[in-house]
Amino acid sequence: MNIKSKIIGVGFTAPEKILTNKDLEKIVETSDEWIKSRTGMSERHIADEKTATSDLATGAALKALEMAKIGPEEIDLIMVGTVSPDMFFPSTACFVQNNIKAVKAAAFDLSAACSGFIYGLSLAKGMIASGEAKNILVIGADCLSKLTDWTDRNTCVLFGDGAGAVVLQATEEDTGVLSSHIFSDASKTHLLQVPAGGSRTPFSVEVLEQRTNFIKMEGNEVFKNAVKGMERAIDAALNKAGLKYEDVSLVIPHQANIRIIESIAKRMKLPPEKVFINLDKYGNTSSASIPIAMTEAYASGKLKKGDILVITAFGAGFTMGAAVIRWSI
Ligand code: COA
Repeated sequence: MNIKSKIIGVGFTAPEKILTNKDLEKIVETSDEWIKSRTGMSERHIADEKTATSDLATGAALKALEMAKIGPEEIDLIMVGTVSPDMFFPSTACFVQNNIKAVKAAAFDLSAACSGFIYGLSLAKGMIASGEAKNILVIGADCLSKLTDWTDRNTCVLFGDGAGAVVLQATEEDTGVLSSHIFSDASKTHLLQVPAGGSRTPFSVEVLEQRTNFIKMEGNEVFKNAVKGMERAIDAALNKAGLKYEDVSLVIPHQANIRIIESIAKRMKLPPEKVFINLDKYGNTSSASIPIAMTEAYASGKLKKGDILVITAFGAGFTMGAAVIRWSI
């Protein structure tokens, strides 16, 4: 029997506080004009001191469960894609499990940076196909503002905080996640990383002075690799699903830069209405970007039952991936 995974609920949370480009002009040497023209971003949501990644993830999970109309006790597995966990351990997923009272679930985090949600979706699809799980919560959640060097204009204008979640359920219908393709190019780890604070270079006074506990990025190189990586991922996922560019109803790319998204859309010859963009409001929310966009696309009527949705992401590692989904709600 070919068991598929259909999405039965989506939801997202973004912190209340909004940081605009104008606000950033007061923090670093930058301008609203530069940020808009180079990235497409206008504002992003930033978590306050008391809010951790699991708080945002919990909010998103509860909304997705509400839409799915299933109880937390029916969830078999919680996966949180994150690179900004509450703590090194326990996992952020364990905090979520306790918050939502998903008493019988297994819970763990998955580290694939901005590709964390797609990696999670791909694993969840396999768990459901094998019969290991029936209902899985896949969450993408990050508070990159807590890893951001607010004196570095190259990075601090780019990121925002948030969480998005989906409930996947086993089905015998030909719907849901039709295919996924995930891969990595680990020869490029140096182009985007948080160099210190882990076991390689534990936190110390020197780390604090050199600010190496924050995100370091070579933006230009990351940009080029992101375009190529997501194009490769989309082609592979569509190929696995036996579908072509013309079959696609909507593409939701990782929301990192409007120019990256435009390059992908141009290559796929997609009209603007077939490409979902919300980075102007949220910035790059890392693993949360795709499930936040999925929730907004559905809520605004841009995703309807039966539509073929392609999602694709790229992140530190480099990790890359895409999935083809027949929308089922
Ligand atoms: N405000 C004003 N100027 C800025 C700036 C800012 N916030 N950040 C960088 N600059 C300057 C640079 O210092 C540089 O100045 P110089 O020419 O005097 O050295 C100039 O702008 C151009 O920098 P460059 O890096 O070539 O710009 P870019 O067109 O590549 O855009 C990014 C920079 C970061 C927006 C872009 O490279 C990008 O989006 N990369 C991918 C990022 C990404 O997706 N990361 C996450 C992956 S999941």
